[in-house]
Amino acid sequence: MNILLLGSGGREHALAWKIAQSSKASRLFIAPGNAGTASVGTNVDIKADDFQAIRMFVFENDINMVVVGPEDPLVKGIYDFFKEDPDLASVPVIGPSKEGAQLEGSKDFAKAFMVRHGIPTARYKTFTTESLEEGYAFLESLNAPYVLKADGLAAGKGVLILDDLDTAKAELKSMLAGMFGTASQQVVIEEYLDGIECSVFVMTDGEHYKILPEAKDYKRIGEGNTGLNTGGMGAISPVPFVDAEFMAKVEDRIIRPTVDGLKAEKIDYKGFIFLGLIRVKGEPMVIEYNCRMGDPETEVVMLRIKSDFVDLLQGVADGDLHKRELVIDSRAAVTVMLVSGGYPEAYEKDKVITGLPAVNGESIIFHAGTKSVEGKILTNGGRVIAVSSYGTTKEEALKESFKVAKQIEFEKKYFRSDIGFDL
Ligand code: AMP
Ligand code: GLY
Repeated sequence: MNILLLGSGGREHALAWKIAQSSKASRLFIAPGNAGTASVGTNVDIKADDFQAIRMFVFENDINMVVVGPEDPLVKGIYDFFKEDPDLASVPVIGPSKEGAQLEGSKDFAKAFMVRHGIPTARYKTFTTESLEEGYAFLESLNAPYVLKADGLAAGKGVLILDDLDTAKAELKSMLAGMFGTASQQVVIEEYLDGIECSVFVMTDGEHYKILPEAKDYKRIGEGNTGLNTGGMGAISPVPFVDAEFMAKVEDRIIRPTVDGLKAEKIDYKGFIFLGLIRVKGEPMVIEYNCRMGDPETEVVMLRIKSDFVDLLQGVADGDLHKRELVIDSRAAVTVMLVSGGYPEAYEKDKVITGLPAVNGESIIFHAGTKSVEGKILTNGGRVIAVSSYGTTKEEALKESFKVAKQIEFEKKYFRSDIGFDL
């Protein structure tokens, strides 16, 4: 079967790496991909949200399945675009419908969905410019810190956590006035939850589901979880505090009600559900839903799946996921992200990357922001390379990743050398 994977980051390289190992995959194309995906498939110069160009490519290359990496094309409705086109309807898209993608595309939609289905999450209310005064009153009813969330997609930057009530009120006003463009025309204010976070990933065919290995990512730029939020500086799997008892609660209270809720509301959802969870006094609560896999979590989750991943994707497409096998590798997997100096603020691109070919052993190199120019590999983003490793323990795996992270060189390279420190 010929597969087209959409996206260009470390997540997509990890997905491509895993897909390429399957005997069921004949040709694998990645649009637009990066220098790393070109080593496991064929890059195609098409943007992940250029639906018309994707449509033509699918016809011309006899594509049998489209796997969507990032949220953008999903929120813009690529699933529906295929389904509504008589010539494309037979090609499955792995990812939810536009409505299903609202679980990530609208915080207000996600919160209301959770309330409808009794899924544990922080108490909240949603406000607009018209209800600004009520927003102030709601803030006054809460205790610090105050959590303000832009309703729409804001490239991971739309959440503010503030210690001071007056600052929170001022920020609420600025958000509604367009701090995040149309994404913050509505703002969700919610209760602050104090606990430890983890990410749980689910594949669903709309009826059945499989729970993939969980992971924990490290979002802050600085060691000791300090400084600005990034897309993610590293990840580990398994997560020590996610034991069988906790996972049983996650499945009973969150996963099953989510899948059943989508079905009951007749929302087409054949793809990944990424649960951003927090453990509060031993109990799981949902911080957010995403309608895709995580990045850099995918760079550890793929290492821990032993089964044929394309077979699982086929199960999602065919609605018989329960008949497919998911075997999990018991080893630990970690990833350490090498980023450009300055990231997540301004940074430079086009720096030559060296030390890559010498890397082998237990590590797997996933490219995030790279491109290939005249035989050289150049930096092409804030997050540049994810160094993933296996180990009997996470400590062993981390030792390996840190060793390789030091061998790879580019100007102003930075990475966190404390991934996993808090567990
Ligand atoms: P989100 O984009 O919703 O995942 O929020 C980004 C980050 O803000 C999360 O990963 C949490 O660390 C933090 N956060 C979001 N909502 C809450 C909350 N209700 N209580 C505490 N922290 C939160
Ligand atoms: N690592 C968090 C995310 O992918 O949203």
